Amino acid sequence: MLKLFSSLITATLLAAASSAMAEGKAPIVIKFSHVVAEDTPKGKGALLFKKLVEERLAGEVTVEVYPNASLFGDADELEALRSNKVQLLAPSLSKFEPYTKQLQLFDLPFLFDDLEAVKRFQKRDKSRELLRSMSAQNIYGLAFWNNGMKQLSATRELHLPGDAKDLAFRIQPSTVLQAQFEALGAKAVAMPFGETFAALQSGAVQGAENPWSNIASQKLDSLQPFVTETNHGSLNYMLVSNSTFWGSMPYKTRSELEAIIEEVTFAVNKDAEILNQQAREQLRVAGKTRLISLTAQEQAAWRDAMQPLWKSYEQAIDADMLRAAQTVNRR
Ligand code: LMR
Repeated sequence: MLKLFSSLITATLLAAASSAMAEGKAPIVIKFSHVVAEDTPKGKGALLFKKLVEERLAGEVTVEVYPNASLFGDADELEALRSNKVQLLAPSLSKFEPYTKQLQLFDLPFLFDDLEAVKRFQKRDKSRELLRSMSAQNIYGLAFWNNGMKQLSATRELHLPGDAKDLAFRIQPSTVLQAQFEALGAKAVAMPFGETFAALQSGAVQGAENPWSNIASQKLDSLQPFVTETNHGSLNYMLVSNSTFWGSMPYKTRSELEAIIEEVTFAVNKDAEILNQQAREQLRVAGKTRLISLTAQEQAAWRDAMQPLWKSYEQAIDADMLRAAQTVNRR
């Protein structure tokens, strides 16, 4: 009852705000919070969104971008979105686990060969369905944004899966990622992205998995002497808003915002690969960490060690979804 009452109040307040906007009283403010640096695919996407909105909807909508978990971090951002304290986020898909099990698909190791395969899947209807999978929880998916393929960094050289044994790796809060490291005989410690550097520095963990852009922008190479190019998974995001907030905007404003999002999404996903390759090159030139390439045989050994866990998630994810994802690789 109390819940119903508070949702009614929220809806009334949002409706009042939207009619004030229509009368030109106050611009609508969209707070966009994220946890990474500004020179990453997501950081740049947030800034491009702000720029285009302020050009095309001047006086009607303003956007405030909060990078590096300066407003909300991994631990509280989704609840802040649900209570409309922030209106846009782009958490990685691993962070939605408490709200839907279906997005666990994207954490399955070696499911997608590369970012192009991920992008192909994201265009399929099966994948578009996922954008609505959390609507009942007031989380409204607007687009998929991508970062890059994940690499393993560590205090030790990793060539074969057995080399990771007994090391502790920082992971995002995901049971799939936990199982992935357990399959290697390693430990997995879930913690917010913003705590990764400190945890590596203190020795609480000795390894991590990240795309090149996050390794470089967080300066993890200063703490991790080795990065193995495993490309074992991909880091993808969902741009989300609060369903009530999004629906409360006048149709014309919302349509314009959605058109801008389409344009920004295209730019983010087009540039993600380039930004990651530039970050890789930056790390190689800086020379603080050694980049380890794998032979085809070594790569196959990592796949053999990790892939068996797909089976255990098939039911929660939905077997059809898993099958659809397997058709996008070009092997
Ligand atoms: C992580 O926690 O490692 C990533 O989700 C951070 C990010 O948003 O890129």
